[in-house]
Amino acid sequence: EQIEKGGYDHFMLKEIHEQPKAIVDTYRGRMLPDEGIIRMAGIDNHMNKFLNAERIIIVACGTSWHAGLVGEYLIEEFARIPVEVEYASEFRYRNPIVTSKDIVIAISQSGETADTLAAIKLAKSKGAFVFGVCNVVGSSIARETDAGAYTHAGPEIGVASTKAFTTQITVLSLIALKLASKKGELSKSDLRTYLQKMQLIPTKVEALLKIDNKVKEIAAVYKNAKNCLYLGRGFNFPVALEGALKLKEISYIHAEGYPAAEMKHGPIALIDENMPIFVIATNKGHYEKVVSNIQEIKSRAGKIIAIVTEGDTQVKEIADHVIEIPETEEAFTPLLTTIPLQLLSYHIAVMLGKNVDQPRNLAKSVTVE
Ligand code: G6P
Repeated sequence: EQIEKGGYDHFMLKEIHEQPKAIVDTYRGRMLPDEGIIRMAGIDNHMNKFLNAERIIIVACGTSWHAGLVGEYLIEEFARIPVEVEYASEFRYRNPIVTSKDIVIAISQSGETADTLAAIKLAKSKGAFVFGVCNVVGSSIARETDAGAYTHAGPEIGVASTKAFTTQITVLSLIALKLASKKGELSKSDLRTYLQKMQLIPTKVEALLKIDNKVKEIAAVYKNAKNCLYLGRGFNFPVALEGALKLKEISYIHAEGYPAAEMKHGPIALIDENMPIFVIATNKGHYEKVVSNIQEIKSRAGKIIAIVTEGDTQVKEIADHVIEIPETEEAFTPLLTTIPLQLLSYHIAVMLGKNVDQPRNLAKSVTVE
């Protein structure tokens, strides 16, 4: 097992560090940035279905569901196709309205999650075309879907999903950009620019992994917190959910993710000097609004750990800690902002002496409902 961990103390840490390579493996052969081309057989072979789809419904569970939410933002932003994201467990039992004009995208690392598999069967029985985004080759979900794209993350052993999440987002980004360009929503030169920026993501993830010591220092300060709040907006709202999930899963600290602007409708009541709040403040679109959320937290004595874009000055003045991420296209920021949050959960769990790779009560693959 020590050999399999490749010199890392835990599989989770190894898998966090594998992300630059996993992202490259996922887009390699699929995108040609300089030509402005995306090739994905699962989409190319069914392009008419995608172009005529009235709606895309994404079904998944857990971390894959969070990737699905990022997918909703990406596909609606770029391809302008309406997207709904559903928990597979809810979808399968609520008699959903699904027709042959719908495309269902099922996302699953293991490809074996019982609820996701059942949701696929239901969607197919109603005539929808089902596209799978799976990591495990030849898995039940990969076999059950009409077409799909594998994430080439390699085996993920740690129960808390890390590289599966970022590679799922990579595939969803390619799908969104591909459909956008086919639909004429994105010019060839803009597509080229996006792909060139995507190509820089692995190096930027690599750079972020190097600030691990800083994240560790922050983990040491907050490891005894009883409750934590994670806030983000837009593309980074799902990252806030995922950050909170990672902390819950492996350190057993209660954490909630929220869209930053919803804070005033509830979580703000919890804020006091004992509450660490992780705020993703990289967004260009609503940056000022997130800054004003941070000020509201400050005036209630909450502790602020902000993830900002390199060179940020405004948040630095207010936050207790800042973690800088390299500049990129806003739509791609989840691939970066999620990294320090993974590391933070990892370090807190290790400091608390928890079983990082096999947290209590959780399974890597949930094959029962
Ligand atoms: C379990 C795992 C999670 C995972 C979820 C969905 O809860 O512990 O890490 O996100 O199942 O799994 P899937 O394999 O369908 O992505």
